[in-house]
Amino acid sequence: MGDIVPAPWGGYLINSYGLCDRILRDRAWRVPDSAWRARQGGGTRWGAPSSTEMGRTLPALNPPHHTRVRRSLGNMFDRKCLGGLAGTIEGHAERLVDRLAEELRGGEADFSTLVSEELPMSSIGGWLQLPPSDYTYLRELAHDQVFTQELLPSASQLALSDSATVQLESYFRALVQERRKSPGDDPVSRWLRTWDELESDREAADEAVYLLALLVFLAAPETTATLLSSMVWLLLEHPRQLGWLRAHQEHIPEAIEEVLRYDSPNHIISRVAPEDITIGDVTIEKDRMVHLMVGVANHDPAHFADPEIFDIRRKASHLSFSGGIHYCLGAPLARMEAGTLLSVLLRRMPGLRVSAPPVYAPRVGFRRIMELRVVEP
Ligand code: HEM
Repeated sequence: MGDIVPAPWGGYLINSYGLCDRILRDRAWRVPDSAWRARQGGGTRWGAPSSTEMGRTLPALNPPHHTRVRRSLGNMFDRKCLGGLAGTIEGHAERLVDRLAEELRGGEADFSTLVSEELPMSSIGGWLQLPPSDYTYLRELAHDQVFTQELLPSASQLALSDSATVQLESYFRALVQERRKSPGDDPVSRWLRTWDELESDREAADEAVYLLALLVFLAAPETTATLLSSMVWLLLEHPRQLGWLRAHQEHIPEAIEEVLRYDSPNHIISRVAPEDITIGDVTIEKDRMVHLMVGVANHDPAHFADPEIFDIRRKASHLSFSGGIHYCLGAPLARMEAGTLLSVLLRRMPGLRVSAPPVYAPRVGFRRIMELRVVEP
């Protein structure tokens, strides 16, 4: 369709890898922040309560506000943190594969529900030290909340998202108050200590930490669950490559990158033009939204040789974790979860097969695999 295509609902779709990469790295381009959302009008999707609340979180902040908040998080998943989490994540993966094996004894099982949806929730929930009895409730809310971040959410989807946002708001506000009362060695307590130094006003510090907890929670489970199911689907669909990987497990990281390239969990990243900008023969007016179609850009033939071929040895870069100042802070955790799960599966389930193609939710922004039926003959 071309590198820049007018979107039927306004704005532009940016399809080429080079342009998406350039816009992500260019600090002049802005994310749709609270002020931009307010300018679109209360009657639009941008005025929905779920959108307004998302407009206050890290991915919707522009510098200098973004710089300050991002700096407060530091490198969340550095080597030390990942080293501390490795054993726990491996334990979760082993336990979930035990459960999968149990179910498979009775015939088919749904890999997505049993494993992909559970591992990211246990990992982020454990890291934030949330009670495991809350996981099911929180996961359901996360599934509904992301509608507000979809490309064109319907009124009923927005209503679901608004309701989920209200519930998540009260959950994470209560969590912050609880950690205020009894601080510990957990991320929320650490953020409170950081923000007490940055803000003289305690309420402002609590507000900043609530928004961090909400966002980190929302960013993690959906995206990572989709990565895990896509990884299993794509590798089982390519048995020769899977066989090679079993014999060369040191290449697991490259296989995960190829899964991320081939079917990115998020297909769209949005930016707005800081002023009138001309790219080629198209002028994008100030404040106009562009949709960076990263799922498409990851298949750009101008950037990748044979992009439609799934090849775990290709060692190519991708835009699935974004780029520039908003680059995903959870990428190391997502990669570790995928790598750990894959090692456990390679060791314990050599006969695993897919029995039906995955069932996808009808979404384009946040992909979601609702069902991935597997057998182990
Ligand atoms: C496969 C899994 C994941 C994918 C594909 C993914 C993708 C993304 C993308 C595309 C963005 C940038 C959006 C933009 O540029 O506007 C982003 C930002 C972010 N992600 Fe992830 N993510 C994943 C997992 C995680 C996890 C596990 C966490 C946390 C535990 C996380 C935390 C964040 C945060 C905090 C940001 C905001 C960064 C900023 O705006 O400065 N993500 N992610």
